[in-house]
Amino acid sequence: MNSAISRVFVFLLVVLGIYLWIGYSITALTGGRGETSAMVDITPEGGESIYWGKGRCFTCHSVGGQGSAVRGPNHGQFGERFLEPMGARAVSRAAERSAKTGVEYTAVDYIVESLASPGAYVVDGYKNEMAVVYAPPISLNLKEIKAVVAYLMALGGDLDMEAIDTAPSDVTAGLYSKINAAAEAGGGDPEEGAFVYEDNCQECHVLNDDGGGEVGPDLTGLAAGGLDFISDSILAPAKALSEGFETYVVVTNEGRQFTGLKTRDADGEVDITNALGDVETIDRADIKDISMDDTVSIMPDDIAEVITVKEFQDLLSFLMLQKPAEEQ
Ligand code: HEC
Ligand code: HEC
Repeated sequence: MNSAISRVFVFLLVVLGIYLWIGYSITALTGGRGETSAMVDITPEGGESIYWGKGRCFTCHSVGGQGSAVRGPNHGQFGERFLEPMGARAVSRAAERSAKTGVEYTAVDYIVESLASPGAYVVDGYKNEMAVVYAPPISLNLKEIKAVVAYLMALGGDLDMEAIDTAPSDVTAGLYSKINAAAEAGGGDPEEGAFVYEDNCQECHVLNDDGGGEVGPDLTGLAAGGLDFISDSILAPAKALSEGFETYVVVTNEGRQFTGLKTRDADGEVDITNALGDVETIDRADIKDISMDDTVSIMPDDIAEVITVKEFQDLLSFLMLQKPAEEQ
C-alpha cells in the first residue's frame, strides 16, 4: 500500500518536472530566455544545416548532385525528371493545389504542407512515405521548419522571407498549430500514444467515429481544449465532471446501492450505467434516495498509476494532434 502511494507520488513529481520543462521550452521558443533556443536562424543557411542534419531530409532526398538518396524527389534541378529546383517547382505545385482544393496556395504554402501533411499531395511516381517532420524521431519545431522552407524556397525560387516568417495563411494556420501542439506536448510519440489510447481509453470513449465505447463523452475535437484541460481530465477526472456525465448514487428501499451515470429518467424508471457500461433499470417507486455526487467520476482516477510517464507523454501527443471537429 505504502509503495503504491509512493509510486503515485514519484509519478506526480515527474509529471510536474515535465510541466516545468515544457513551460521552460515554450518560454525559450518564444524568445523569452534569450539565446537558449537560438540554435537555428530562419534563413536559407539555417535551413540547410537542418536539412543535412537534424531534419534527416538527406536520408531520402538529394539536392541536384549533392547527396545520393532517391527515395524522395530530388530538390534540385536534376536529370529529365526534375527540370525545376524546389523553389521554382513549388510555384507550379501551388497552382495545382489551388485548382484542386479551391483554396489559394502560395509556393510557401505548398512547401509547408508537404512538410507537415505530406499525404495531402503525393508526388507522382513516389509512395506516400515521407516522414512527418514535427513528430519523432525528427521532431522539428516551427522555427526549424520555417528555416527549411527558406532553404528550399531559395533553391531557384523567389525567396520572400516575409511570406515565410509572418502571419500564417489559410493553408498554414492549421498546420502551424499542429506543429506547435506537437512541441507543446513535450515531444511524445503520437503513434505510440495511439496504442496507449486504445488500451486505456477506447472502451469508454469515441474519438473520430472510431467505434469506441459510449460511457464517457465523445472526445472528437478534444485538442481544442488545450493541454492543461486534457491532462487534468486524465489525472483528476472528478475535478470537473463533464456536463451530462455526472455521477449519481441511487439507494433503493431494500438498501441496495447503485453508482453510475443517469442515462435515462422516464416512464417511472431510472437507468444507471456503471463504468463497465452495464445498465441497471430501477423503478422510481423502489428508490429511497437519488443524488448527484460531484466528488467522483466514473472515469478511473488511477490511470496515472497504470501507465508509465513515457506512455502519458505519448498519449498527450496523440490527443493534442487530433484534428479539430470541423476538419473531420
Ligand atoms: C523517409 C523518407 C523521407 C524523409 C526523411 C523526408 N522526406 Fe520529403 N518526401 C519523401 C517522399 C517519398 C516524397 C514524395 C511523396 C510525397 O509527395 O509525399 C517526399 C516529398 C517531399 C516534398 C515535395 C517534393 C515535390 O517535388 O513537390 C518536399 C518539399 C519534401 N519532401 C521535403 C522534405 C524535407 C525538407 C525533409 C526533412 C525535414 C524531408 N522531406 C524528409 C520522403 C522523405
Ligand atoms: C470507465 C470508463 C472510462 C475510461 C476507461 C476513460 N474515461 Fe475518460 N471519461 C469517462 C467519463 C464517464 C467521463 C465524464 C465524467 C468526467 O468528466 O470525469 C470522462 C471524461 C473524460 C474527459 C473530459 C471530456 C470532456 O469533454 O469534458 C477526457 C479528456 C477523458 N475522459 C479522457 C480519457 C482518456 C485519455 C482516457 C484513457 C487514458 C480515458 N478518458 C479513460 C469515462 C472513462
